[in-house]
Amino acid sequence: MAPGSADSPRPREAVALGVTGASGAMYATRTLAALLERGLHVELIVSEYGRRLLRDELGDQATIENLLPFLSAKYGDGVSAGTINVHSNRDLGATIASGSHGCRGMAIVPCSMKTMAAVAHGLSRNLIERAADVMLKEQRRLVIVPRETPMSLPQLRNMVLCAEAGAMILPAMPAFYQQPRTLDDLADFMAGKILSALGFEHQLYPAWTGQVERS
Ligand SMILES: Cc1cc2nc3c(=O)[nH]c(=O)nc-3n(C[C@H](O)[C@H](O)[C@H](O)COP(=O)(O)O)c2cc1C
Repeated sequence: MAPGSADSPRPREAVALGVTGASGAMYATRTLAALLERGLHVELIVSEYGRRLLRDELGDQATIENLLPFLSAKYGDGVSAGTINVHSNRDLGATIASGSHGCRGMAIVPCSMKTMAAVAHGLSRNLIERAADVMLKEQRRLVIVPRETPMSLPQLRNMVLCAEAGAMILPAMPAFYQQPRTLDDLADFMAGKILSALGFEHQLYPAWTGQVERS
């Protein structure tokens, strides 16, 4: 069986990952790689603009069709510990459109203002919106990683609506106290925050020791 293919035996825990057309594709690929490294099964949905952002920000090698080789080349063979099932965002009949699917939680990384508005108002027009709605109705963990600046009042209100409905709002705001040197360090930080929010341990950034570590 091909490592990382949907033919592999399904690991016990599944997590959904939605990728939309906000800037920050690297946050999505680092989060996906980290989930796979943990041996998880990832139900992946990438919106049309999410696909465009992957290509625009990370290059032609980061298309959906090439995602596994891209992740292996960038993050190492550890990603083959997990499996991915790629869904069409148009498929509202996919397994994860139902609460009967045992998905532990979902993250939307990055989350556009458009998709956040749809989640805030329960629109469920595509699979990302529907899977997010399922997480809220089943009271499972939904982590929304919005990226926009500045934000309008409707956008801020939509964030509050999502939080009131039970989602965790985890803005794409990497910290600098861990002395990042590269863009990958910033992506590691965000992916670590997202894994923590989903309830997974990780070593993507060092725990805060009370003072800045200089090397
Ligand atoms: C290059 C590019 C960058 C974008 N960056 C953002 C962004 O950071 N935040 C955002 O909310 N929308 C951004 N957009 C707009 C969204 O892609 C657009 O609203 C789209 O309809 C979102 O659809 P989706 O949520 O289904 O992916 C960007 C679009 C492009 C083409």
